[in-house]
Amino acid sequence: MKISVIGAGYVGLTTAACLAEIGHMVRCADNDENKLSLLCSGQVPFFEPHLEELVARNSRAGTLRFETTEDAVTEAEVIFICVGTPPLDNGEADLSAIANVARTISQRATAHCLVVEKSTVPVQTAHRLKRQFQLYASKGVHCELVSNPEFLREGSAIVDFFHPDRIVIGVESEEASARMGEIYRPVLEQTFQCPVHGSCSVRKTPAWVVTDTSSAELIKHASNSFLAMKISFINMVADLCEAVGADVSKVALGMGMDPRIGPAFLNPGIGFGGFCFPKDVQAFVRIAEKAGCNFSLLKEVENINKRRIEQFVEKVRKELWVVRGRKIAVWGLAFKPNTDDVRFAPAIELLRALVREGAEVSAYDPVATEKAKAVFPDARYCASPYEAAQNAEAILIATEWEEFRQIDWARVRTAVDRPLILDGRNTLDATELARYGFHYISVGRPAVMAQSGSEVADETKTREAVQPSRLSKAL
Ligand code: UGA
Repeated sequence: MKISVIGAGYVGLTTAACLAEIGHMVRCADNDENKLSLLCSGQVPFFEPHLEELVARNSRAGTLRFETTEDAVTEAEVIFICVGTPPLDNGEADLSAIANVARTISQRATAHCLVVEKSTVPVQTAHRLKRQFQLYASKGVHCELVSNPEFLREGSAIVDFFHPDRIVIGVESEEASARMGEIYRPVLEQTFQCPVHGSCSVRKTPAWVVTDTSSAELIKHASNSFLAMKISFINMVADLCEAVGADVSKVALGMGMDPRIGPAFLNPGIGFGGFCFPKDVQAFVRIAEKAGCNFSLLKEVENINKRRIEQFVEKVRKELWVVRGRKIAVWGLAFKPNTDDVRFAPAIELLRALVREGAEVSAYDPVATEKAKAVFPDARYCASPYEAAQNAEAILIATEWEEFRQIDWARVRTAVDRPLILDGRNTLDATELARYGFHYISVGRPAVMAQSGSEVADETKTREAVQPSRLSKAL
């Protein structure tokens, strides 16, 4: 099918490359000229595992082309709208990019086309778009609206496209539903050659959920808000565990065994970030308010999340006493692993708070350094975790990169001035760290002390004796 994808961000470019990979002729557009010329020259402007190879392969094969929006919407059979919906100051989604694309489609579309809303939008946006097309589309052109929310996670977006749990479409006609089924047929029937796993051992056919456009729009916002709520919930449980000396990982394990709860998204830490959860929770609260529903539950989800950084910095203060002038290493800058996205990243908030307090911060991330530097130039950015750890009095883990679980702890132990680790993502092995002489503090779990006679005993470098943790008062 001839498909145009408008917007070459995380969602748009992934969707475009994956649709080309399953056999469609795809034209992808963006109004950012720099981005467009990068893509035309074969470069991908952000890091997403496997995306570059998909873009390269399909560009070579001629199944994926990059064009201006005006060109891409002309003669398209299906147009996916994947432009950004960033938050306005009042928390509502800014729909101006969507409105601009709708205007261009009205002026330029030259056929009966299906317009697929993939951007995350407030409920009833499809109705508004439909009205726009009725009013402004050229004579003889009929644009039919479909809502097809995406559930792609950054860092595993390609896997998520090919192996979704469900594909949701909100439609107004059987014909639109059939055309959407045709587009996704290789995924629905799992008949593609998987670009990530080759021949996948497990192929589970996704659920095909057909509903009305408003319900489809709500499924997206409600899903993200619910997941955010799960995270804030477990973060509160973690606080309670710290207060009474319990272990949140055991609590989460026990809770997650109930199939009504499930084990996913029960990892406590320094909070959720990224360009989806924070803005979607805010937008959902505003949508509900406008509809006359006070969704105060979600306001608290947001408040709990906002407090995570200050609470984590308070732990740093408790351990270091005075933060001003202290050398602190921060490992991890992206809002989560396997992405270079630092938008609304808790790690960046953490840097900001530490620098504000006068700490000398050395930061490291496997891929997000350049993007972090652009938004927060006031830290020292390092080329390796070891360089960041040099003479540090505390190492703070802000993103759970796999690289941090493979670290040479003996080397880090000799680099630091004080063997103290505050793990904001509960990602490291406490027993191993204790063996190497580290004092390990995580979230919602009792602190672990350095073992006496640890494997690397370089106590001469330790300025302060390791103090018993003041974390778990009740222990
Ligand atoms: C999220 C959803 O998971 C996707 O389904 C959705 O398509 C996407 O938003 C979107 O709306 O476009 P994403 O933002 O890529 O995907 O990241 P997640 O993996 O959901 O993580 C979000 C944040 O929650 C991260 O900061 C992560 O560190 C944090 N998190 C996640 C926790 O703190 N604890 C957990 O247990 C899980």
